[in-house]
Amino acid sequence: MKVRRIILIGPPGGGKGTQAKQLEADYGIIQLSTGDILREAISSGSELGEKVKGTIEGGNLVSDEVMIGLIKERLLANDSRSGFILDGFPRTISQAKALNVFLAENEMDLDAVIEINVPDELLIERITGRFSCSNCGQGYHDTFNMPKVEGICNECGGTDFARRKDDKEETVKNRLLAYNEQTSPLISFYSKIGILSVIDGNQDIKLVTKCIKEVLDA
Ligand code: AP5
Ligand code: MG
Ligand code: ZN
Repeated sequence: MKVRRIILIGPPGGGKGTQAKQLEADYGIIQLSTGDILREAISSGSELGEKVKGTIEGGNLVSDEVMIGLIKERLLANDSRSGFILDGFPRTISQAKALNVFLAENEMDLDAVIEINVPDELLIERITGRFSCSNCGQGYHDTFNMPKVEGICNECGGTDFARRKDDKEETVKNRLLAYNEQTSPLISFYSKIGILSVIDGNQDIKLVTKCIKEVLDA
């Protein structure tokens, strides 16, 4: 299979995780969600987890230094060799610049940077209705994306579900602010390099996937 290296950019609740999981299944490349990696560190009680817990629960960004170190390690791991979907990284211009240097040093090219564009006013509802399977991580939504059989995960049959601590409305507002101030400048950064594609994220989940795949298969 073709090696694909993809970045997904989008606001909190924009659908990055939902789409990354689908692309992972369809293209056989791994999803690297920095949010998931940090939440796993928190639940395992690791040193990294202790360090970032307060920042994440307050809806603020973890330092560039920590994030850049973490992602470099993941990109050198064996399971990233056949390609990856970056979900939640980079999130600042410094992170994007560090990533460019790292990829060049390791002779890796980016195939696409995809912005999933969703208006702010839809995001609070998307996030406050979100839950996921505790066993396999599959994401759902109270209104837009319920399991086929209520209470049972479509993917693994699990019956335990969880909601994120940072999905409370007050925290979401902070996360949106961080996105608009610190992450949205990446859109013009990648547009200038000429590898940005913008997808309308305010349409059915399957249609968003179809639009992303059209870009990747072009
Ligand atoms: P992270 O976990 O990355 O959170 P986020 O960017 O806020 O994004 P979300 O995971 O909330 O949304 P998503 O786009 O994945 O949407 P989803 O597919 O779930 O980061 C968490 C925290 O970690 C950060 O705040 C920060 O503290 C830290 N962090 C992580 N990376 C960092 C970095 N690089 N630098 C610094 N700090 C970092 O969809 C949302 C809901 O909507 C779901 O219920 C879904 O079913 C539904 N949905 C999805 N698509 C659609 C659709 N088309 N129509 C209707 N509903 C839909
Ligand atoms: Mg996510
Ligand atoms: Zn599951």
